[in-house]
Amino acid sequence: MHAVEFIEKKRDGGEHTSAELYAWITAYVRDALPDYQMAAWLMAVFFQGMTPRETAELTLAMAHSGEMMDLAGLGVTVDKHSSGGVGDKTTLVVAPLLAAAGLVVAKMSGRGLAHTGGTIDKLESIPGWRAELSDEEFLRQAREVGLVIAGQSKNLAPADGKMYALRDVTGTVPSIPLIASSIMSKKLAAGARIITLDVKVGKGAFMKDLEHARELARLMVSIGRHSGREVRAVLSQMDQPLGRAVGNAIEVREAIATLQGEGPADLTELSLALAREALEAAGEDPARAEAVWKSGAALDKLRAFVAAQGGDARVVDDPERLELAPDVSEVRAGSDGVVAELDALDVGRAVLRLGGGRERKGDTIDHGVGVLLHRKVGDSVRRGDILAEVFHREGRGLSEASELLQQAFRIAHDASPPPLILEVVA
Ligand code: URA
Repeated sequence: MHAVEFIEKKRDGGEHTSAELYAWITAYVRDALPDYQMAAWLMAVFFQGMTPRETAELTLAMAHSGEMMDLAGLGVTVDKHSSGGVGDKTTLVVAPLLAAAGLVVAKMSGRGLAHTGGTIDKLESIPGWRAELSDEEFLRQAREVGLVIAGQSKNLAPADGKMYALRDVTGTVPSIPLIASSIMSKKLAAGARIITLDVKVGKGAFMKDLEHARELARLMVSIGRHSGREVRAVLSQMDQPLGRAVGNAIEVREAIATLQGEGPADLTELSLALAREALEAAGEDPARAEAVWKSGAALDKLRAFVAAQGGDARVVDDPERLELAPDVSEVRAGSDGVVAELDALDVGRAVLRLGGGRERKGDTIDHGVGVLLHRKVGDSVRRGDILAEVFHREGRGLSEASELLQQAFRIAHDASPPPLILEVVA
């Protein structure tokens, strides 16, 4: 089909065939289709939408635009994805848990951008740990350790990288079929049979309301099914940050504490829920999630994983080896009452100002800076109590970060913590 006819078909509300979508995506990754035609089509999709079948075919075409990881012969393989939030270190808890339960966690992960952190950045706060692995190293570690997390390879769903860059500058990011195909193309190419999705909903998340998050989750589950994968999505609240630690090294410390049974209740609850879903999808007893967590076997797995990727595994037994920035200041309550709101977006931005995140792709980050929340929604406070500790480096970004943290907290007469897990889509 001629490019202009293809664009006109979507513009007029038509439905593409699988062959048309394959040809379109293939032409784009081969530079045989100019950005302006792809941009016009993306805008047509933004307004006209796509059917679930069409979205699944688009996703497959994007997944096949590069390398498809072959994880056959490795056992029951599982991947986990989060749509991005503040303080979200669940991968660091769930991945070793599932590996200790006998599944093979072979995962590619991204770096953080804007107010949301990335798993790779967090792991890079472990001295020596490296994200860049060859395909051979990736597969060997999956086989030998049962747990591997590597940086996203450029050759995985390259159509998505190119399309996302264009969406970013043409106002076409917030389209549910485009988001679903973007996320799922990378997951399908990464090869795992079971895919657990943590879809965040709220102020600090990509999806601000439950209705849209549910639509996205259902679409991703149906794409997975269409492609022969087992996908489960857990919708979780992201109005306030997850756990108490936000940053890089400080989040790894909190994840280790959670595996030791001493983590915050919300992070523990969500990590166990995600692990249960993955186990059930694998045909296992979901109750094993809690049993494995209590046994301490996940800590052994974490040690082996860190060492296999060149990191100092002693951090697992002595998390204080993960260095925090040496300068600490406090944000205190201006009145008595109960924390009614704790805006995740403000907290994420505060860490960004301290240097703990990236404003632009390629920025370097400071792994030691971060925030430790002493109060969360539903907690009582007295005027002068510490709301948050700020770990900063010689005051860089401190005044802006403190201001953001001060505005993040709303103190009222009464409030109770919101439910964390909103829904499971299977
Ligand atoms: N994350 C992705 O990978 N793609 C999107 O389009 C949005 C969020």
